[in-house]
Order: sequence, then C-alpha cells, then structure tokens
Amino acid sequence: MAHQDPLIHQDIDAYIRQHQNKSLLRFITCGSVDDGKSTLIGRLLYDSKMLFEDQLQALEADSRKVGTQGDGLDFALLVDGLAAEREQGITIDVAYRYFSTATRQFIVADTPGHEQYTRNMVTGASTADAAIVLVDARKGLLTQTRRHTYLLSLMGIRHVVLAVNKMDLVGHDPAVFDAIARDYASLAGRLGIPDIAAIPVSGLRGDNILDRSAHMPWYAGPTLMAWLEAVKVEQHALVAPARFPVQWVNRPHQDFRGYAGTLASGTLQVGERVRVQPSGRETTLAAIHTHNGAQASAIERAIAGQAVTLLLADEVDAARGDMIVPAQSPACVANQFLAHLVWMNDEPLFPGRHYLLQCGTQSVPATVTRIKHEVNMDSLDERAADKLTLNAVAQVNMSIERPLVFDPYLQNRQAGAFIMVDRLSFQTVGAGMITHELRRATNIQPQHFVIGKAERAAMNGQTPRVLWFTGLSGSGKSTIANQLEKTLFARGLRTYVLDGDNMRHGLNKDLGFTEQDRIENIRRAAEVAKLMMDAGLIVITTFISPFRADREAARALFKPGEFLEVFIDTPLAVCEDRDPKGLYRKARTGQVRNFTGIDSPYEPPLNAELVIDGSEGLDASACAQRILDHLLDRPQDGARGTSKEEPA
Ligand code: ADX
Repeated sequence: MAHQDPLIHQDIDAYIRQHQNKSLLRFITCGSVDDGKSTLIGRLLYDSKMLFEDQLQALEADSRKVGTQGDGLDFALLVDGLAAEREQGITIDVAYRYFSTATRQFIVADTPGHEQYTRNMVTGASTADAAIVLVDARKGLLTQTRRHTYLLSLMGIRHVVLAVNKMDLVGHDPAVFDAIARDYASLAGRLGIPDIAAIPVSGLRGDNILDRSAHMPWYAGPTLMAWLEAVKVEQHALVAPARFPVQWVNRPHQDFRGYAGTLASGTLQVGERVRVQPSGRETTLAAIHTHNGAQASAIERAIAGQAVTLLLADEVDAARGDMIVPAQSPACVANQFLAHLVWMNDEPLFPGRHYLLQCGTQSVPATVTRIKHEVNMDSLDERAADKLTLNAVAQVNMSIERPLVFDPYLQNRQAGAFIMVDRLSFQTVGAGMITHELRRATNIQPQHFVIGKAERAAMNGQTPRVLWFTGLSGSGKSTIANQLEKTLFARGLRTYVLDGDNMRHGLNKDLGFTEQDRIENIRRAAEVAKLMMDAGLIVITTFISPFRADREAARALFKPGEFLEVFIDTPLAVCEDRDPKGLYRKARTGQVRNFTGIDSPYEPPLNAELVIDGSEGLDASACAQRILDHLLDRPQDGARGTSKEEPA
C-alpha cells in the first residue's frame, strides 16, 4: 500500500488482530456522476488509505493530465476506469470495491450509468445492508433520488444516509441542507425506511467525509465515514430460520447419502428435527460434514454462508431444488404468490407468457397471471399496465408449475428473491421479491377421478394426441386439418379440431390481435386442447400461434410425445396471393392492424416434429396423408389407435 496505516510499523500483530476482528459492511451508492458519485467513492478509497502505489501514481499523473483540480487530485479518475471499460464494450453492471478503516471493512457496490439503473441497482442492492444516496445541494431531491430510494425500500435496505454533496457550492448554507434533509425524511418515511440520516458534505473538498468540516460548524452529526463505521446492521442471514437449498445429492456408494449445498440462512444443529420441503417429510439431522481444505471433517453446527453436506437419519428422498429447514420453522410452499417484479429485458413481459423462475436451486416454469399495478418511478404512483417494458417495476401475481419453497423477501432475502429466465435464450429477463403466497392457491387441490386419461383412451382404442398446427393466415391449416380429420374419422378415431377463427367466436371472443391477446388466445387454446386430450381425443389445433415462446408454453403442458408441432410452411407471398378472406388486402391498406406477416411478426418453429410445404397447388389430402404417415411411424408414443386398422 502506498498509503499505509502507521500501526503496521509499530505493532504488526496488533494491526493483524485489529483487521481480523473487524465487521463487514456492504453498502451501495446511488446517484449519478453529476452528483459527484465518482469523486465521493474515490475520496472514500483515498482517505481510507486503501490505494496501491501504482494506483496512486496513476491518479497523480492522470490528475495532472486532465487538470480539472489544478494541482490537486481528481478522485473521480479513480473510479472512472469503469467508464473506460464500458467504452471498450466490456459490460460491467456493478463494480464491487473494497476498503477498510481501523474498525470496519467495507464492500461498496458501485452501479455506474443512468441507463439500466434499475437492473444495476437491484443487483447491487441485493447483497447490501446500507446505502448512500447522493444529491447535489444545488438541486435537492430529483426524480432519480425518488426512484433510487423506492428501489432501496423494495430491496429491503433499512439503513440509508443522504449525502448532500457540493455544500461548498451553496456557501455551506444550513438552511439549504435542512430543507433537503426534511424533504428526504418525508420521502423515506412514506416508503417505510426505518433508519435514515442526512450529512452535508463536499466530496471534492473532503468536508465531512473522513474529517469534520471547518466550514460547517453548525452540523453536529457524524461524518460520512463515521456513519458508515457506526451503522448497526442486523445479521438477518444469521438470525433467520435455517434454509438449506439442496444443490446436489452426494451418493458415492450405497451406504452414504449426503445433501450438499450452502446454508443460505440461520444455523443447523446435529440432532435437530428437520423437514424436507416441498414434500414435507420430517427426520433428524444426523451429521454435518464440511471441508477444511482437502480435509473433510464432521461438525456439530453449521451457520449461514457455510458450504456443508448434511446427513439425515431416515431415508427421506431429497433432490436438487428441495429445501431442508427446521421442522419448527418451515418455509412457505405455494404455487401462486404476490411479488414485486423488476423487468430487465428489451422484450416486454406479457402476462400469460412462460418463463423459468429460479429461486435458490429451484428452477420452475412460471407465468405472471396478473399485473396488479406498475409503479410510476417518477411520481411513485401506481398505475394499471397490461405489459412491462424495460426497467418497469410492478406488483404481480405469479403462478408456477410446481410448488415453490420460499420466504417472503422482507423476512428472508436469501429465500425470497428470484430471477426470471427466458426459456429460449436462457437470458435473465427479470428479478423479483416475493411478498407473500396467495392463499387461494393453497386452498385449491387437484381432484383425482377413478376414470382418467388412460381409461378414456383405452375405451376409444387410441392414444390421444395434440397435433398443433402453426402457420400464417391462409397457409392452409384449416383445409389440411379438415382433410386430416376426415381421414382419421374414417378410421374410427375420435377427433376434434380446435380452430382459431371458431374459438374466437366463443370462448375467446374477448380477445383481439395484440401480442398480449394472442398470448392469452394460445394459452386458452392449449388448456382446452389439454382437457380434450384428457378426454381421450386426438386434437388438431389450427391457430396461427405466431410466437415461439407461446407454442413452447403449450408444449410444456404435455408429456413428451403427446404434443406434435406441425408447421404449415407456406410463404407469405403465396398466402397473400390466396387471401381467402381478403384480410391481407385490408392489412396492406391499413384497414386491419397487427396482421401477422404484415405488421405483426411470425416466428417460424425451429424444431417442429413435422414441416408441411403448403405452397404450390396445395394438395390437402397429400398433406394429411403425410401427417398420418408420421403418426404411424411413431407407434411407441401413440399411433396405437391408428395402426390397429393398418394392414401389417
Ligand atoms: S393467433 O395469432 O392468435 O394464433 P388465430 O389463429 O386465433 O390467431 O386467428 C387468426 C385468424 O383471425 C386469421 O386466420 C384471420 O382470419 C383472422 N384475423 C383477423 N385479424 C387478424 C390479424 N390482425 N392477424 C392475424 N389474423 C387475423
């Protein structure tokens, strides 16, 4: 270090002891570069003497070169390396910087940039215990101050300090400071942040950062560094009930079965009663193993953050994604819950669309069933929304395919946060915080009847299937479906055609052709197809179903082999030429809007079970025959009924 603690020379042991026993504070800084954020962070690093020789030399040289501060140091340059990296196209969403003082160690999450601030802040704040919100004394609270503070409250940050910066530029006027501090107290109060402070500072001059300012004798509170050193953060992860997400099952031989993972919160003690969730089975914790370097050892107690292997007294089956918890204080298990969702993707979120939800080691298909309201980040008012665009924050109802084990986020940040992942690209598209389970979900249990799909199928002498046709309007879906059904019918098979236009006359008459309406159209169609398949029928559907994600969601309702995607691949020009309903002409002249292929997209399937060329001189019976042949080729998963009439 260029800039060392004198204790290193005086008493190295004392120095080491002091450092070993220091507590750690993770905090986040909010505010823009204009507010002096880089300068402030640079100043904290410099004043805490945590710079390396070469960093200091570079800072001196760069400061001379840019000359913004005369002969002085430009602290902003310390942090602006990030900006340079961004210019080179390296994406750094959040940079974590480390520094320490005599009494505490700090990790500061620096979230650069205006764009994507929501995403960056959510990432940075998810592990932070405290926050510095920076405002320019000349400007007071801005819209972004409100947004940042709202996000902090959402992320469960309970300790916030408002640094009223650039006090030198308002003549160190106490009235200016008081007015801003008052405004902020009322905002934080409204958002329910319990612990706030306000400090008048100048990052540039170093006033009230580490040392008390001689310019502001009227201010009696702590300096910024003193606040950071003194703020008492609750050890939530330690005091919360134990939550152990099973990462993998370690089974080297018949006699050993261990559940490996990292204890997310709380403590676990050998001998205590534990429950495996979601199954609910209970047993006793028989042993805890850990690794100390290459050496495995048994311990009596595991604490949050420790990577351990648990051994259970009884053979209760637990798998990756399950949670082991104290039997006395289990987590919630539900398949519907209320949550705050922060949307981070350029493609909007639509209710009904399927995503993967990841919560700890659990990964479950999920949809937003309802957007309750979106929060207007400028006014903090709530407003209705039918989709969520980039950076939107909303309260939503979520429904997931299997029960999820979780805690409300504000009770346990580790077990209550989730991310949403696109099922096709595997990109993270959203982040959420669970508020609470929806009771109605727990109160609804599936009913099981003696006569099921298998019995009905046997009675019909066929294996039910869904033949999901997709293709442009005019591609020939209905014509081919008609022909195929006639052929199947003639063979004594029980069928039904679920047709797009027909369903839009009844069940779906409330839906139009916006993206969200089509998502809902396909969702309902797929659910109806599922019921019909359960009834033992061979179902043919003829919906344009233009979006890949929605067809995948439909497929996900069925077992492998039950759902066959049939792409009626007819070029747009051919469909437009046919124009059986005159709709293409209307779409071209603007009389019909959002018409698939014209001003609304069609995403062709990437791996349909069958592609039928519906172009030149469409021969519907030949196409139907191809589909039938395909069915007959798959006796193992279905053509039982169709093959029985086939000559051997
Ligand atoms: S889907 O996109 O939601 O799957 P669906 O198959 O139910 O559509 O309905 C498509 C039919 O509605 C078309 O065959 C056409 O007759 C009619 N239609 C009316 N307006 C539109 C439109 N804007 N886009 C596509 N089809 C439309």
